[in-house]
Amino acid sequence: MVSSCLASEGKTTTISNLASVMAELNKKILLIDLDLRKPAVHKQFNLSNRMGLTDLLLNKDDFKVYLHHIYPGLDVITSGKIPANPTEVINSNAIKDLIKKLSDYYDYIFFDTPPLVLVSDPLTIATFSDAVILTIAHSEAEREVVRKSIDSLKQVNANIIGAIFNKIPVSKHNKYYYSYY
Ligand SMILES: Nc1ncnc2c1ncn2[C@@H]1O[C@H](COP(=O)(O)OP(=O)(O)OP(=O)(O)O)[C@@H](O)[C@H]1O
Ligand SMILES: [Mg+2]
Repeated sequence: MVSSCLASEGKTTTISNLASVMAELNKKILLIDLDLRKPAVHKQFNLSNRMGLTDLLLNKDDFKVYLHHIYPGLDVITSGKIPANPTEVINSNAIKDLIKKLSDYYDYIFFDTPPLVLVSDPLTIATFSDAVILTIAHSEAEREVVRKSIDSLKQVNANIIGAIFNKIPVSKHNKYYYSYY
């Protein structure tokens, strides 16, 4: 899963890129939008979000009906209709059972999530994820906020495998400038 401390740090952009790159490495990838509050994966890939995860959980259909085949190796399940009770949906056994089933079909499943400081959903998602990546935006998340988010992830035994430092300003006047030579 990919999460971040604050809103708008670049989770959806990061996870969409990661999922695409992993698919290019000949892995079978499924990207699921588990941000049931402000879903945006469908926008990244220009997909309809008329039917998605929440409809799949409700209707108990064959999951294949809900897959968007982006290109060979990359499938997407959008969020579906925003539910009245996102926390309950994320905490349900139905979602865990579904993910267990889906993991038989894919090498990696990526979950986009809401921000950690706003809701408990990402902490719940961490309990059924093998690994957590944090997107941390330059000049947005303060050190203390990041520290607290990491602590709360550790409390649920999340396996934090790394962070992506995002939105780094690229200018020749600062230390992040890459010089090509
Ligand atoms: N590396 C980057 N450099 C500059 N802008 C970026 C970068 N990554 C993302 N953005 C921009 O930041 C904004 C937020 O990105 P995105 O929607 O991916 O974040 P998010 O963390 O998923 O947001 P939300 O909390 O609303 O789900 C978008 O306008 C996106 O284009
Ligand atoms: Mg997002």
